[in-house]
Order: sequence, then structure tokens, then C-alpha cells
Amino acid sequence: MTGANNNNGFLILAAGKGTRMKNDTPKVLHKICGKEMLSYVHDLAKSFQPERIGIITSDDAPETVRFVERNYPESEVIKQNERLGTGHAVKVSLGFFNNFLGNVVCLYGDTPFISKKSIEKLNHSLNEDSNVAVSVLGFEPKDPAKYGRLKTNKQNDLVEIVEYNDASEEERKIGFCNSGVVAIRGEHLKSLINEINNNNSKQEYYLTDIVKIAVSKGLICKAVSAEEHEVMGINSQAERSIAENVRQDLLRNKHLENGVVIQAPETVFFSEETILESGVEIEPNVIFSGDVKVGKNTKLRAFSYLEDCIIGEGNIIGPYARIRPDSELHNNVKVGNFVEIKKSTIDENSKINHLSYIGDSNIGKNVNVGAGSITCNYDGKRKFKTNIGDNSFIGSNTVIVAPVNIGKNVITGAGTTILKDLKENTKVVDKKNLTEI
Ligand code: UD1
Ligand code: CA
Repeated sequence: MTGANNNNGFLILAAGKGTRMKNDTPKVLHKICGKEMLSYVHDLAKSFQPERIGIITSDDAPETVRFVERNYPESEVIKQNERLGTGHAVKVSLGFFNNFLGNVVCLYGDTPFISKKSIEKLNHSLNEDSNVAVSVLGFEPKDPAKYGRLKTNKQNDLVEIVEYNDASEEERKIGFCNSGVVAIRGEHLKSLINEINNNNSKQEYYLTDIVKIAVSKGLICKAVSAEEHEVMGINSQAERSIAENVRQDLLRNKHLENGVVIQAPETVFFSEETILESGVEIEPNVIFSGDVKVGKNTKLRAFSYLEDCIIGEGNIIGPYARIRPDSELHNNVKVGNFVEIKKSTIDENSKINHLSYIGDSNIGKNVNVGAGSITCNYDGKRKFKTNIGDNSFIGSNTVIVAPVNIGKNVITGAGTTILKDLKENTKVVDKKNLTEI
């Protein structure tokens, strides 16, 4: 290996307007399985522990700029305010890659599923021979549609990329297409990019032109192959939903392979961050959102919705339960139908089985919360906390007006309204509820 340098740099092209998405969210911030497209691409780049990651965006997409600054402060926002084409996008990053001798891998923010293996193949083809200046990730789609076509010579070296709009009838018959992912040896980056012009049907600066420029300088270009499903680009809501289906199926299979029992996988929706231990059972129409972790042998019954929460082992949740962010359920907890839990901790063996709202609360061990009981955690302005001690029994339809601390072994009668703290071992009933005979 001559001239090999494994210090990669990544450039993520994400300045496109995404007009075909037809809404105000920048295209690259649209989510697939709960994760932004840009995050898939950034995670891929990050997995190589590169020396530099640059993200091309523009002032037209302040949300994207904020997203990158908040989530990836170590990466560089590079503004391309005039969108003059993919070659121009790389050109505005030349300062960022000044004197960089590693491989610069260009990824698209709207092509989220490229595999790590494909990038390794690209790097390998560059590192193998120091005369190779550019390597392109190609694929053979069932329908080559309007993708750029990869022209190779007898030695199988890449000699030119022809954009569909500029291609002849003959060239359009080529089935080997450009995924858009390109790796460029750092030492040649500047000289190749600076020679790109916009003499083409779209009057854009095409990144793809670097292939014929490199060849004209006596340098070698290569193409390596990826699978079609990796290369799927998202340009419209319809394409996003197709990608969502493909990805959901992958996640379903992953969890099934890990020993999760899923009655009707096609009705269950996961997020990329969902973690399920073995023996979890999932009934139909359960939805996972954000970061959810579920412990061994927990049963999630039909129509439950779980978001950013931790569920312990051996629990039974639902049917029709809603567990909201920042909730943690320890082991052997039961949560039944029409129960909502928000920002609360429920300790071992406790039960909240019917029609309850528990918010901003800590509930101890072996607590029974009766049907219809609720915590009033909000006075219209601020949120307040409820604590309930171990072994307490909260009678049906108890209303707990927070802030309230209920000790251990407390019993509240049905229909009680609790306004003050209750010491351990107290029993309370609401006298107005005692009907005279
Ligand atoms: C590009 C390739 C084509 C390939 C296809 C694969 C070129 C000239 N063509 O075409 O060969 O088959 O991708 O999907 O590269 N972007 C910017 N700034 C710009 C223009 C684009 O950041 O000025 C970004 C877009 O946000 C997008 C990506 O670059 O993420 C690709 O741009 P797009 O215009 O969609 O390229 P295609 O015409 O699809
Ligand atoms: Ca595109």
C-alpha cells in the first residue's frame, strides 16, 4: 500500500431545499423510524472516527444548522448559500479540507442507508494504489431511471460519469449507476474540484465530472458496488414512507432474531433506538417512540404506546397503556388499560391497573393504585411531585393534589381527595362520601 492514509474526512451534502417534500421541515431532518435522515448519515461517518466531518447546509435551513450545532458540536457546519450543484457544494468545503491528505468521502444527507461495508470498500479501492484518485459507489438498480451512469473501460476502471440529462440513448442503456457516494484522495481534491465547470444541460457544477477530469490528468478512477437498498434516496413523502416500511421490517426481523415474540410484526412500529431483551412479548399495534428499553419477559399488550422510557423485567403493560418520557418502571410492575404514566418511577410489584394518570410521581414497592385514581400534578402554571411509600393502597378514584408525600402502608378510601401529606400507616376516608342510611 503506497500513499495510504486511513485518516478519513467526511463531507455530508445536505444543502438541497427538498422542495418535493412539500412542507417546512428541511428534507434531511425528516425522520425514518424516529431518527433524522441526517443522523443516519452522520452516525455512519462517525463510526469511522474520522479526523473531520463537514456538513454542507445553508442559511435557508436554520433548523438544520441548529440541529447540527446541538447534536454534533464536533462537526463543522459549512454554508453553501448559492446552490450551484454537487460539485459546487464540495468546492465551498475546500477551505475545511485544506492540506488534508486522507480520503474525503462525500455522502448525501438524503441517502441514509449506506452500509459501513460499502464505505470500507471505497476506501480500500483508494488505498490499494496511490494512482487511484477517485472511487465511486455504484449499484445496479432494477430501474436505472434518472441516475447518473457509470462508464467503465476494459480494465474495469471508471472513465466517466454521465448524468441522465446529458446522456445519449446508448449511454442510458448502461445499468451501472451512480449512488452519489464518492471518495476522493485528499491530495487531489482541490485540483480536481477547481476544474469542474457548468457546461451541461442543467448549468450546474456536477461533482461527477471529477472522474473525467482525473482521467484526463492520467489518474485512475474506480467504481465499487453497493446493494440497491442501501442507496435508496429520499426526495418525497412517498419515498420516505417506502423507506420507513423497509426499515421497520429490518427492525422487526432484528427483534425477532433476538428472541422477542411479536404476534403480528407488521402492526408493531419500532424506533431505531428501541432496545428489547429476550423473552419480551408484544401483542398487535404496539408503538415504540424515541429511546425505549424493555427488560426480559415483559409483556406489552395490544395498543400500548411507549415513549422514551425504561421498563423492567416481568412487567405486564396494557392493553391501551401510555408510558410517556422519563418514566421508569422497575420489575414485575403491572400497568393496565387506559393508564397514562409521565415522568414517574414505579417500583417493584406495584400495580396501576385501570384508568389512571400518574405524573411527576415516585411510587414505592407493592403499591396498588385503584381504578380511576389520578395525580393532579399541574396547577395551570407549575408542575408538582407526588411520592407514595411502599405497600400503600390507593383506593379507587383517589385524587392526589400535588405536592403530596404519602408514607408507607397508607390506605386511602375510595373517592378521597388528598390535599396534604399522609404519615405512614394512616387510613383516610372522605367523610362527605359516607352515605347515611
Ligand atoms: C446525483 C448525481 C447522480 C446520482 C444521484 C444519486 C450529480 C451531478 N449527480 O444526482 O449522478 O445518480 O445523485 O442519487 O452529483 N446538494 C447540495 N448542494 C447543491 C446540490 C445538491 O448540498 O448545490 C445536495 C442535496 O441536498 C442532495 C445531494 O447533494 O443531498 C444530491 O443532490 P441532487 O441535486 O439530488 O443530485 P441528483 O440530481 O439526484
Ligand atoms: Ca437526489
